[in-house]
Amino acid sequence: MNVVLGVGGGIAAYKAAELTRALMREGFTVSTVMTSAACEFITPLTFAALSGRKVITDLFGNRSADEILSSSVEHIEVAQQNQILVVAPATADLIGKFANGLADDFLSTLYLAFQGPVVIAPAMNTNMWQHPAVVENLAVLAGRGHRIVGPDAGALACGTVGPGRLVDPEQIVSAVVAASIGKTDLSGETLVVTAGPTQEPIDPVRYITNRSSGKMGYAIAEAAAARGARVVLISGPVQLKPPAGVELVAVRTAYQMRDAVMEHLPEATIIVKSAAVADYHIASVPDKKIKKTAARMSIDLDPTPDILAEVGSKKGDRLLIGFAAETNDMVPEARRKMQTKRADMIVGNFVNAAGTGFDSDVNEVTLVMSTGDTVPLERATKKELAHKILDHALRLRLALHNAV
Ligand code: CTP
Repeated sequence: MNVVLGVGGGIAAYKAAELTRALMREGFTVSTVMTSAACEFITPLTFAALSGRKVITDLFGNRSADEILSSSVEHIEVAQQNQILVVAPATADLIGKFANGLADDFLSTLYLAFQGPVVIAPAMNTNMWQHPAVVENLAVLAGRGHRIVGPDAGALACGTVGPGRLVDPEQIVSAVVAASIGKTDLSGETLVVTAGPTQEPIDPVRYITNRSSGKMGYAIAEAAAARGARVVLISGPVQLKPPAGVELVAVRTAYQMRDAVMEHLPEATIIVKSAAVADYHIASVPDKKIKKTAARMSIDLDPTPDILAEVGSKKGDRLLIGFAAETNDMVPEARRKMQTKRADMIVGNFVNAAGTGFDSDVNEVTLVMSTGDTVPLERATKKELAHKILDHALRLRLALHNAV
């Protein structure tokens, strides 16, 4: 799919180079349009080298009359050749031009000619961001259905601290992926997704955890948000950025995860429990570091609450999806967990299969459903599998509904 990246003139323009790479990693072809101000911050050569494509810098520029005449409808061509327009960084000036239909350079002209989805990632000084003119212009763009991503709050290049920083390129990619899917079959749904490991403290400096990376749960949260759902992502400690548009609830222990899930259960229509929750914890954690002695030592562990089973007993007509990470007897184990925990579907996977599992970007899973069906899914990236799991979840809910 072709994306046209509009780069505005702000200090964050250099991050658009990283965004180009991130979009290409996701399989998009990227064409770049830079405003003349953007060219003051970063050169067109950078984008040409990264994308392998010509970079358009402005409407007339230094071109001869012949060149201008031969490409006089270039903004129309670019508008037709690309499926998504993403503007990053979107400056106050660009936002104002787009909102008011001004077209005095290539990017603003392209915006008017463009008919596909538009993703806007603003970046500017905090005072500018909070100025009523920018607030109103942005509301106009949001009202047109454009996806607005960010900005983040933090230390800005101008020395102020506050909102105005361009969001992480991966979050812009999430918004572009969402725009490219164009599916809204989860709008009106609230998904509560758990992800990652939990950490169970032993003392103030040590803890017990597991090898879950959180990638599968984050991919499901991203896919669901892209398809229009409200997503509450309850995550143990992971090295991942939350996808754009999801509400992150960061937790550490199994008990914290349980409390967060129960708090959000009333809002949920679908619950996905992909977290690798610790089965045991230390009930009374000492407040001082345990010192080394020559003697053998042991730790007493108590069971943690089984969150999936508790949700299963209170779920009502909500759809409940659990996971089972197994090293043996995957399908029978998944089926047993589905029945004992009253889940509607268990996503089973072998954690010791070569090239898949924990920290990998790919996985191979089998869906075990309460209808009796077992659906093996081909090895694919976790992002692709996330969509397939959601497709099957919606089909399963319909089948369960029709069976009543
Ligand atoms: N789960 C949970 N709370 C726990 C343990 C597990 O909610 N305390 C959930 C997981 O999020 C997952 C499912 O139960 O969706 C299965 O987790 P798994 O660790 O595979 O199963 P266990 O029931 O812990 O069984 P075992 O470790 O013996 O395989």
